[in-house]
Amino acid sequence: MSSSTFLLLHLQLLYLGLSLPAITASDDGRFVYSGFSGGANLAMDGASTVTPGGLLELTNGTDQQNGHAFYPTPLRFVRSPGGSVLSFSTSFVFAILSVYTDLSAHGLAFVVAPSRDFSTALPGQFLGLANISSNGNGSNHFFAVELDTIQNKEFDDLNANHAGANVNGLRSEQSYYAGYYDDKDGSFRNLSLISREAMQVWVDYDDKDAQITVAMAPLKVARPARPLFTAIYNLTTVITDVAYVGFSSATGTINVRHCILGWSFAMNGLAAPAIDVAKLPKLPRMSPKPRSKTLEITLPVATAGFVLAVGIVGFVLLRRHSRYAELREDWEVEFGPHRFSYKDLHRATQGFKNKNLLGAGGFGRVYKGILPASKLEIAVKRVSHESKQGIKEFVAEVVSIGRIQHHNLVKLLGYCRRRRELFLVYEYMPNGSVDKYIHISSEEGTPILTWAQRWHIIKGIASCLVYLHEEWEKAIIHRDIKASNVLLDVDMNGRLGDFGLARLYDHDTDPQTTHVVGTIGYLAPELGHTSKATPLTDVFAFGMFVLEVACGQRPIITNQRSLDSSSSQLLLLVDWVLEQWSNGSLISAVDSRLEGNYNVSEASLALKLGLLCSHPFANARPSMRQVMHYLDGAMPLPEMTPTDLSLPLQQNRQLPSTKADGS
Ligand SMILES: Nc1ncnc2c1ncn2[C@@H]1O[C@H](COP(=O)(O)OP(=O)(O)OP(=O)(O)O)[C@@H](O)[C@H]1O
Ligand SMILES: *[C@@H]1O[C@H](CO)[C@@H](O)[C@H](O)[C@H]1NC(C)=O
Ligand SMILES: *[C@@H]1O[C@H](CO)[C@@H](O)[C@H](O)[C@H]1NC(C)=O
Ligand SMILES: *[C@@H]1O[C@H](CO)[C@@H](O)[C@H](O)[C@H]1NC(C)=O
Ligand SMILES: *[C@@H]1O[C@H](CO)[C@@H](O)[C@H](O)[C@H]1NC(C)=O
Ligand SMILES: *[C@@H]1O[C@H](CO)[C@@H](O)[C@H](O)[C@H]1NC(C)=O
Repeated sequence: MSSSTFLLLHLQLLYLGLSLPAITASDDGRFVYSGFSGGANLAMDGASTVTPGGLLELTNGTDQQNGHAFYPTPLRFVRSPGGSVLSFSTSFVFAILSVYTDLSAHGLAFVVAPSRDFSTALPGQFLGLANISSNGNGSNHFFAVELDTIQNKEFDDLNANHAGANVNGLRSEQSYYAGYYDDKDGSFRNLSLISREAMQVWVDYDDKDAQITVAMAPLKVARPARPLFTAIYNLTTVITDVAYVGFSSATGTINVRHCILGWSFAMNGLAAPAIDVAKLPKLPRMSPKPRSKTLEITLPVATAGFVLAVGIVGFVLLRRHSRYAELREDWEVEFGPHRFSYKDLHRATQGFKNKNLLGAGGFGRVYKGILPASKLEIAVKRVSHESKQGIKEFVAEVVSIGRIQHHNLVKLLGYCRRRRELFLVYEYMPNGSVDKYIHISSEEGTPILTWAQRWHIIKGIASCLVYLHEEWEKAIIHRDIKASNVLLDVDMNGRLGDFGLARLYDHDTDPQTTHVVGTIGYLAPELGHTSKATPLTDVFAFGMFVLEVACGQRPIITNQRSLDSSSSQLLLLVDWVLEQWSNGSLISAVDSRLEGNYNVSEASLALKLGLLCSHPFANARPSMRQVMHYLDGAMPLPEMTPTDLSLPLQQNRQLPSTKADGS
């Protein structure tokens, strides 16, 4: 073989290797799945599965999971090298099945990406698409249409029920409330993403005018003439010549399944083929209770032994029932006074009406109520609990910590347990949480806190943590210190809330998985390695809180220049404060809305202390007792320079992945 034919052969192989995938998808990249049974052959990872009935479940009800499913071969999005991205069109039918009818987390997205590997992406608000450092980075080269059921302020989400078109990150280029414009009268109709109803979405990209069009409708309604929204974005800078199409989805701390029932796709100006609605798989029935696992496993196996299966199920249920009753008795004897009846809580909150909703967090919704007999104002937190193990210990613990009292702790008045729900009853804090007052994007009309108020709150929370860490019978770790967990009572004292709740998720976890409890931005770096909460991980979060209060900024600052695809960036508040300090003016990091009205030495102490507490090396952080001494002026802060604090940061200031994949 001459060297030139050899070269030619090589080139041909190279060419084949590159273009083969695009050819195997039909010429125009067209496909339609009306259900996924049989030879769907999707490339899946994480929690994704296709059920025997042909339903694609991207997540399976487990907490903090990602799930992805891609069309197995990549598609060619550019006709010739250097050309622009071709028009494409897709449509899919989805449903979100949360154990609750009024709460879910987090959502799913249709995605076009250069690779199927999203193993470094985070669950939760990152929807399995990116992580903190990669979010918004132009090198991600992904385009996504998200259906998001949680409002994440850091991504400027509209509400907790929206659709958005995203490029390279989680902040949408364009988004709108989930819903559609009725063809008959043109009025807008809201759709609830978490209604458990199947809905259809249409996404089109037109290369002539670089326009993205997104529409959605209930399954029985035809594609509405007026789209939900359109966005102008030239995807030629985003989508790679050859790219995968598929779905990404992620859960938070709620048992939810994100399902795709059908999907179609077409390239190059053709409309996505119609999905045959009659052939779509059935959604599992959700109410009144999710099917028990025992049923799910035994039924398919036991065609012959049906009676036996029923017997087993009956036995299990019976045992469960008696165990439950027994537990109830134990608790009643031991912790009687702290137990509320569901009836009282239901009445107090007027049946958990939305009008009484105070807010929703990672663990569940919080409702305001007034106890019928005592007229006492309460806040009721409604929490889902998935597993039965640990719940007994947890409740016992919750109740026993009900004994812990401190002036700066939101008092836990009691609990109530019902089916798969736990209700925690706290005293009501009329002034809400600190985050509402200190952030620029906060609701308009809330006054900002003066420096004196901020200082008072910081000292209050510090004294409460000294008490928990050192003065109670045994050291207690809070695990979820953050501005939204610091509430304000009538006298504007800071009170630490959500106390003990993080334990639930700790008990819940398999010791083999590295499941981190807490909130991204407040998690100490060592939690990434050990996932073991210590008093010093609380100190880290406290440091973040102090910086947040002093600077009026979130722990993760989002850079606003997001329209240019490559520049949207997340910056850690700590790094930003250090930067101000290195530039010679630490004090310029103080919240500008105070307009200079603050005590300079207190503010400078707060900033340095915040930095010291959130030091990446746990051993360099002070104890809460030392912190209290610094705040009281009983002890001077050690001499520090910005370099002392930033030296080891490069490799350590990476936030841990909260994926619970056991790896
Ligand atoms: N005792 C209370 N009194 C008054 N409002 C409360 C009380 N507890 C909570 N809230 C309100 O409910 C909102 C949601 O609280 P929740 O603790 O569930 O959420 P979070 O702190 O944002 O998240 P996480 O669940 O991760 O801690 C809070 O921001 C606060 O405004
Ligand atoms: C869900 O998927 C995860 C990841 O594959 C797996 O570890 C877990 O056991 C699954 N849970 C259920 C209920 O199937
Ligand atoms: C974040 O994602 C990027 C890109 O996928 C990856 O290179 C990086 O290692 C990830 N970072 C973390 C902390 O997982
Ligand atoms: C974007 O990601 C690339 C590759 O992962 C990395 O080299 C680059 O520094 C990142 N850019 C920003 C602004 O973070
Ligand atoms: C639809 O939902 C949005 C956001 O929650 C709300 O502002 C609007 O009033 C709702 N519209 C209708 C017609 O219910
Ligand atoms: C999109 O960008 C590509 C490359 O920059 C360009 O060739 C194409 O004309 C642009 N499309 C539109 C509609 O502007």
